[in-house]
Amino acid sequence: MTVHLLGIDGMDRARIEELLELTDTFDEIGRRPIPRVPALRGKTVATLFFEDSTRTRLSFDAAAKRLSADTLNFAAGASSLSKGESLRDTVDVIASYGVDALVVRHPMAGTPHRIADWTDAAVVNAGDGRHEHPTQALLDAYTLRQHRGALDGMQVAIVGDIRHSRVARSNVLAFSMLGADVTLVAPATLLPDSVAGWPVRVVHDLDAVLPGLDACYLLRMQRERITEGLIPSIREYVAGYGLDAGRAARLPKDALILHPGPTNRGVEISAEVAADPRSVILDQVVNGVSVRMAVLFLLLGSGLDHEPAADGEVAE
Ligand code: NCD
Repeated sequence: MTVHLLGIDGMDRARIEELLELTDTFDEIGRRPIPRVPALRGKTVATLFFEDSTRTRLSFDAAAKRLSADTLNFAAGASSLSKGESLRDTVDVIASYGVDALVVRHPMAGTPHRIADWTDAAVVNAGDGRHEHPTQALLDAYTLRQHRGALDGMQVAIVGDIRHSRVARSNVLAFSMLGADVTLVAPATLLPDSVAGWPVRVVHDLDAVLPGLDACYLLRMQRERITEGLIPSIREYVAGYGLDAGRAARLPKDALILHPGPTNRGVEISAEVAADPRSVILDQVVNGVSVRMAVLFLLLGSGLDHEPAADGEVAE
């Protein structure tokens, strides 16, 4: 049976921890002068992106290459989709090149799940609409763990456009599975219609929660998904929820500041705060490659029960 990574929903703590531990190995490999191992030689990883991306796409591509896999890249804007080709035909064409993994980003929730029904390749969800973005959650959990050892008992706030954010959905699940206390901070209009069943506390006042946080996770305003007037103006949003130097001063001295990127400087985060020593935004980017190496290795390597060799090398 082909194993996919479609969401954090469906994973459990043990599985996430296994992945984060394996990521340590790939993090070490990434620091070598030649950060490449032959673990996936002969395998082919295709990225299928129907939405724009910088980090996610490049990091999957880099991860596959560091594992010595061949890569194929499909970008919707430069494809025969513009000539009317269907999603199904596009997937069939790419699959016929003999791919072992398909990394899919699509504006419609559930698309990677449909593609998983159509192909024998392992499918990785690289973001589906406002639904899930599991590898982002894994790299964010890895970044928190790298700085704090463990997420147990951490006070984490996720701030901003929760309503349209697949990152928020995946992160709430992953952080809480790993033992963190998650608070969502947003105006009511930027929250989902219901958070019933979400393992979170919801507050509207960012200033009130800042002093008690271990980590403050800021989200980008998803302007491409906002179809109605949900905030009076960007200026009012910034006044209530933007993390500027004044607000960052209310965070504890050892708190961590995260953002999945791309950042809108001056909206959810000021340029000054993005450069604050407590900001781990670039660590998130670096860790993105290591986490995606671990994901590809687990899906395509010697199977889910495989452990890296004891000397830290990844067996071929
Ligand atoms: C996120 C995404 O695409 O969902 N970005 C990313 O993967 N680094 C968040 C965003 O676009 O705001």
